[in-house]
Amino acid sequence: MTRLANKAAIITGGAGGIGKATARRFLEEGAKVVIVDMSAAALESARDELSELGDTRAAQADVTKKEDVADYVKETVDTFGTVDILFNNAGIEGKIQPLVDVAAEDFEKVQAVNVLGVLLGLKHVLPVLTEKNSGSVINISSNAGLDGTAHLSPYVASKHAVSGLTKTAALELEGSGVRVNSVHPSPVNTRMMRSIESGFNEEDSESARRDFAGRIPLGRYAESVDVANLVLFLASDESTFIAGAQYQRGDGGMGATP
Ligand SMILES: NC(=O)c1ccc[n+]([C@@H]2O[C@H](COP(=O)([O-])OP(=O)(O)OC[C@H]3O[C@@H](n4cnc5c(N)ncnc54)[C@H](O)[C@@H]3O)[C@@H](O)[C@H]2O)c1
Repeated sequence: MTRLANKAAIITGGAGGIGKATARRFLEEGAKVVIVDMSAAALESARDELSELGDTRAAQADVTKKEDVADYVKETVDTFGTVDILFNNAGIEGKIQPLVDVAAEDFEKVQAVNVLGVLLGLKHVLPVLTEKNSGSVINISSNAGLDGTAHLSPYVASKHAVSGLTKTAALELEGSGVRVNSVHPSPVNTRMMRSIESGFNEEDSESARRDFAGRIPLGRYAESVDVANLVLFLASDESTFIAGAQYQRGDGGMGATP
């Protein structure tokens, strides 16, 4: 279990569903991990849970604040001597409503976390990686970063922006040995989908869940560990020739549907 032996990883949104599952897989494969999250209580309980697997640090930060981002990167370098992997994963879904009803401030809030948060993570971590000509960044987009979804316009716009940032970063890093890729999962069984399901059908969120799952050829949501395993591959040296890719849709076959 040494696919990430001695590598130092930062995972934003590390106290949430996909973030914590990824931290777990990284630790199981020998990485040292800093989980970053806005929620102090969730961070503390995630760190307690993960610590038995390996060296886990927690950094409370808001990914939309440049000082917080600079601090979590500095803290990682001070603690582990470097950064090898960044998983830009913190994200919010925003309100579920028709595009014409979206308030500008609600739109901006989603872009701040899902897009600016990713940009700031890249901006502060890439200099550490380019200095040593190695490292891997994985940005989480979504199947909503490849196609439209009615009533989720702020989220869809933000996840398309993550694809653009990923490809642009990869081009700017040409020849450096540093890789940036995005992952595009379909619905994953976490708090975020519970919120989206009740946003689509407040009276019967279970029926919204069945509708979403019914559109996935494998017939179920992804579990967080399904996404974590893909991110682990992209973080590891098994994927050293993969850069700038919207790597797999990770979507249970949804991308194959017309
Ligand atoms: N759940 C899905 O169906 C799904 C599908 C595709 C992509 N994604 C993406 O995966 C990522 C993780 O989502 P999840 O399903 O684990 O949701 P989650 O709500 O369980 O986790 C998100 C975490 O991000 C943290 N966070 C939110 N705003 C933050 C901020 N400003 N600064 C720091 N931390 C912040 C939250 O506290 C939370 O712990 C998100 O970017 C989401 O858009 C989720």
